[in-house]
Amino acid sequence: MATEIILGIESSCDDTGIAVLKASPTKTKTNFEILANELSSQTKLHEQYGGVFPAMAKREHAKNIVPLFIAALENSKLLKKRKKIKEIDPKVLKKLTKLLEREAEMVSVIVDFVQTYETPKIDKIAVTSGPGLEPTLWVGINFARALGFLFDIPVIPTNHMEGHILSVAIPEAKTFSISSESFQFPLISLLVSGGHTELVLVKDIGKYTLIGATRDDAAGEAFDKVARMMDFPYPGGPKISQLAHEGRTTLAFSEFSFPRPMIHSSDFDFSFSGLKTAVLYTIRDMGGTLSDSRKKDLSREFEDAVVDVLVVKTLKAVQKYKASSVVVGGGVSANLWLRSELLRRGKEFNPNLKIHFPTLMLSRDNALMITLAGYLKSLRIKKFPRTIKAEGNLKL
Ligand code: KG4
Ligand code: ZN
Repeated sequence: MATEIILGIESSCDDTGIAVLKASPTKTKTNFEILANELSSQTKLHEQYGGVFPAMAKREHAKNIVPLFIAALENSKLLKKRKKIKEIDPKVLKKLTKLLEREAEMVSVIVDFVQTYETPKIDKIAVTSGPGLEPTLWVGINFARALGFLFDIPVIPTNHMEGHILSVAIPEAKTFSISSESFQFPLISLLVSGGHTELVLVKDIGKYTLIGATRDDAAGEAFDKVARMMDFPYPGGPKISQLAHEGRTTLAFSEFSFPRPMIHSSDFDFSFSGLKTAVLYTIRDMGGTLSDSRKKDLSREFEDAVVDVLVVKTLKAVQKYKASSVVVGGGVSANLWLRSELLRRGKEFNPNLKIHFPTLMLSRDNALMITLAGYLKSLRIKKFPRTIKAEGNLKL
């Protein structure tokens, strides 16, 4: 039960993340110390195009990942300059060049790092291997493999969605622990982001069963598309949520009424494209532009519809699987109306039901959740995989 230092790498979409976590297991729990959690967001770049373009995102990750890694080591106090520059062995350089064949621009910065700095004291590397955009996932994976080779340490392929589930265990504080009491199993996890809307039955850490998913748009995607219809920049989810809040506090009743797709279906699937189309037709019927007050009203009714469906289906899953707790993760878990409605209706449904949300910082994509998920996975698996590949549709 040795203390270990884990480096985590996230590059599944438009955020590059590097985190460093120190794990110290004891007989009853594991104590964690967050040494670094660095994030570089590409939102500003993609904003002007109204979405994420994989090739452009890949280039940004490749540009940012090494400087972010160095910043993370510096903050972790793991960065030590060599007394004199180390010459790199031609064989090592050859292997490194092969590993980074598709990210050739990263070779010289990594070589520079190895020549300048001593090998940092890291025991394992966790990297997101999916789901996500394959071109961007490859940047993180190939960087992880390069470091694994240079430092001679294992690399653990980590599922991004497992990261979102476990993100609720990480508080704002620098230190925290995980024990058998941290989660109450079985639990239902609602994962809501720009790319996913899923309900997962969790029997234990590492034991996941997908019980429902969206058949078309993800919840975050629907928020972003509705924002776009009102000419707000990508990703517009937070803006819609803010307008909805203003609508709720200033307008007595709503002029609009939108459908709650699949709210009473017998399964746990979702569908948000019909709702999105209903919003589109409403805006079109009003001549294409809306007053500020109507924008608030429409945002409120739209948010009500999405949250209604998410809450009803989550609680239905809790009932069916006799779950003791609910864990919400992903970008849309930052939505304050979702938080308050799930808490309110969850308590009404069962006062003992525990409902966990990540901190607002960890709702969005980040490397810290990947580091934690990867570390816990490394304790479960018998052997580290020899090869890792990007899997855009990786399942839990
Ligand atoms: O998990 P995430 O950062 O990236 C993905 O893996 O997709 O989620 C981003 C999504 C975007 O669609 C964004 O609009 C949405 O989460 N989002 C929100 C809120 N904050 C972020 N949607 C509704 N309300 C919010 N407050
Ligand atoms: Zn995500």
